[in-house]
Parts: sequence; structure tokens; C-alpha cells
Amino acid sequence: MPHIAPFVTEVDFASGELSMADYVIQRRLSDMASMYADEAAARRIMAEEGDRLIYEVQGVELPAEEGQIPHCTTRITPGRIGDEYHMTKGHYHARREQGEVYFGLSGRGCLVMQTESGETSVQEMVAGSAAYVPPFWAHRTINLGEEDFVFFSIWEARAGHDYGAIERDGFRVLVVMRDGQPAMVDNPKYG
Ligand code: F6R
Ligand code: ZN
Repeated sequence: MPHIAPFVTEVDFASGELSMADYVIQRRLSDMASMYADEAAARRIMAEEGDRLIYEVQGVELPAEEGQIPHCTTRITPGRIGDEYHMTKGHYHARREQGEVYFGLSGRGCLVMQTESGETSVQEMVAGSAAYVPPFWAHRTINLGEEDFVFFSIWEARAGHDYGAIERDGFRVLVVMRDGQPAMVDNPKYG
């Protein structure tokens, strides 16, 4: 087992910038246009304004072995595609029995979770919220505010990421703007 020396990375709560980030991932609208219920709206935005940044992840890379605790920040920009708020792709962990903790740093949003057996949970998150993603729950975060929504994630290194099921089926519920407020609706494209 490789020896990892202790380290500290400074986190900027407003931007999600990590002083010791080993990687930065940017997800743009073109990376996930088909994940939005209104894919036509996504295509229109790309044609009219270009390829919008939806979210950015900055993380510390650690070996994928028992006991290592990778961690990262995610910054979701504000905005909507049609009436659906900017969101992450979302995933199950490849090892379904691995959970995760999210901690809100700035802005506001929600965490949508679901299990393969049909349960759904939507939890609000603000700066200071510690949200628990239990084992077996797929998870996606959504920016419900007009500012960036930034949070910190901590998980076990062997969890792995399974994006395929969500790319294929989506989540059962969507969070959309109705009369200026967030509302949960059934996903017409689910499954
Ligand atoms: C890690 C985790 C988060 C997300 C990040 C981006 O297990 O859940 O750090 O990876 O918020 O979302 P995805 O991975 O769905 O693109
Ligand atoms: Zn995860």
C-alpha cells in the first residue's frame, strides 16, 4: 500500500477552488444535453449562446484502495434549461454499498436521491448543510438559486462511479421552476 503523507488543501467556499486540486472537470451543456427533459431547449441554447458551463469539479486524487478518502468540491452555475434547473449528471456508486457525505459551502440547492428499488428522496441544501447519501442511493445535485451552488463531497476510494444507469433512465423526479419557485415533477422520460 502506498504511503500518503498528511496534507491540507485550502477551500474557497464561494468558488469551490481547491488550493491542491489534482484535477478540474468541467461539464458543459453539450456533455449532458440529452439528460434534460427539454432537450430541444438545450440545443437552442447551444446554438444561440454557445456551450454553457453547467458545473465544475475540483478534486484531490487518491489511490482507489480501501481506506483512502477522496474529496472534491462541485460548483454548479445558476440557470435553467427550459424550466429545469442546472444540475449534475448524477450517478450510483459502482460499489452500491458505499455512501458519501456532501457539505454545503455556498448558495442553495437540493440533493435528489433514488434507489434501484423505487424510493426517491429530495433534500434541500444550503451553506452549512451536511447531507448524507446512504449506500445504494443514486445522487444528483441541483442549483435552485441565482448564485453558484458550491458543496464539498467526501467518499471512500473504492466506491467508483456508475453513470450508465442514470444516462439511460434518468431520475424519477425532476426539479423545475413553476411560478418562480422550485417544484418536483415526475420525469416524463424516466426509464
Ligand atoms: C462523488 C460525488 C460528487 C460528484 C460531483 C459531480 O462520488 O458524488 O463529488 O462526483 O458532484 O457530479 P457527477 O459525478 O454526477 O458528475
Ligand atoms: Zn457519489
